[in-house]
Amino acid sequence: MEGEVKIQGSKNSILPILAACIICKDECIIHNCPNISDVHITKKILEYLGCKTEFENNVFVVNSKNISKNDIPDNLMRKMRSSIIFMGALVSSLGSACLSLPGGCELGPRPIDIHIDSFRQMGLKINERHGKLKCDCGSGLIGCNIAFSFPSVGATENLILASVLAKGTTILTNAAKEPEIIDLIHFLNKCGADIKYSHNGTIIIEGVERLHGTEYTVIPDRIAAITYMAAVASTSGSVVIKNIVEDNISSVIPIFEEAGCIINPIDKCSLKIDAPARLYCNRLIRTMPYPGFPTDAQAPIMAMTTTADGTSVFVENIFSNRYKHVGELLRLGADIKVEDKVAIVEGVKRLSGAKVNAMDLRGAAALIVAGLSAEGTTEISGLEYLDRGYEKIEETLCKVGAYVKRVE
Ligand code: EPU
Repeated sequence: MEGEVKIQGSKNSILPILAACIICKDECIIHNCPNISDVHITKKILEYLGCKTEFENNVFVVNSKNISKNDIPDNLMRKMRSSIIFMGALVSSLGSACLSLPGGCELGPRPIDIHIDSFRQMGLKINERHGKLKCDCGSGLIGCNIAFSFPSVGATENLILASVLAKGTTILTNAAKEPEIIDLIHFLNKCGADIKYSHNGTIIIEGVERLHGTEYTVIPDRIAAITYMAAVASTSGSVVIKNIVEDNISSVIPIFEEAGCIINPIDKCSLKIDAPARLYCNRLIRTMPYPGFPTDAQAPIMAMTTTADGTSVFVENIFSNRYKHVGELLRLGADIKVEDKVAIVEGVKRLSGAKVNAMDLRGAAALIVAGLSAEGTTEISGLEYLDRGYEKIEETLCKVGAYVKRVE
């Protein structure tokens, strides 16, 4: 592969930012919005709630002046696990919310106990019956000190959204530090919120009277960047990756470098990756909250290690069921053993194309990375998962010389 790849806007930034727009009761214009199915589901939720929306050429416009509903239908809640983020946003915007529990179990159980316990500390009354959460904040939420038992990304976002208009000061400790959290804070501050954060995981939110609309550009998607870099590395490519924040992928860059790739920054927001004829990976890779190695990068990086010389050991610490791609990589001829959280990958000489099935978003990306380096044709089904998070991935890959075709 050779040429340039421009990285899309961040999926995990845009989703909470779009939910946050309903607190502004005004017009917000969001640039660099990825054209992915999770954004289209969020658009449907916003419209159901009474917002006006437009989405064209990666610009998303939301006007939430006439937001009128405080509930989200079960079918929309179930389509996207991150819809739970609307709980904090609705409570701030309207004082109440009625949501069903986000369904399914794609990456293992995804409880929301940290969200619920923290909301209750702020005075939110939550009634949980028949799979529905009915939330009411009475005369308003009250700022307080919340120490998270785990730095949950979703709970941190939800509590930030709930506390922007609360009375007094909310202090979150052991909060998530992912770049997408900082992006949400920057967006809200631009809307008139008063939020400070430090790199030790403390976030201080002073409640303000109201927010106003704004124009904002979301950060580039760090996981999409890592996915394309893994694809380049696996195919001995030489590609410029544009629209990145290098700091946000700094825990993964050493893995590429140790594998033999040469990475040169080109300017503040692009780098060039030159991969050797054969990769070498002999590493322990443990997924951790940011700034550790991201769980979302585990599958595409694992796909890359399947054909590298050496033994790679992965420990998945964030989700209990995030090795569903392994069975499919085995079909392509990979040598991987899994026991609980641990996966051991012995690099093989080459993979050979086969029919495989994606079962989650990052697993789908891993199958693309593996399929690109495999001998012969790889046919991947389950593209609905891929489309949740990657904008026009096949077009992007074809532009740099890959042969990827979508068939109905
Ligand atoms: N957890 C609990 N209780 C809670 C909340 C979380 O036990 O109340 C557990 C989860 O079950 C999980 C772990 O904590 O085992 C991490 O969950 P977290 O809340 O941090 O993740 P999330 O908010 O559900 C977001 C991203 C995920 C990403 C994780 C971790 C969005 C929309 N989703 O999920 O992204 O893997 O943070 O970084 O931001 C993806 O993009 O493919 C993806 C799955």
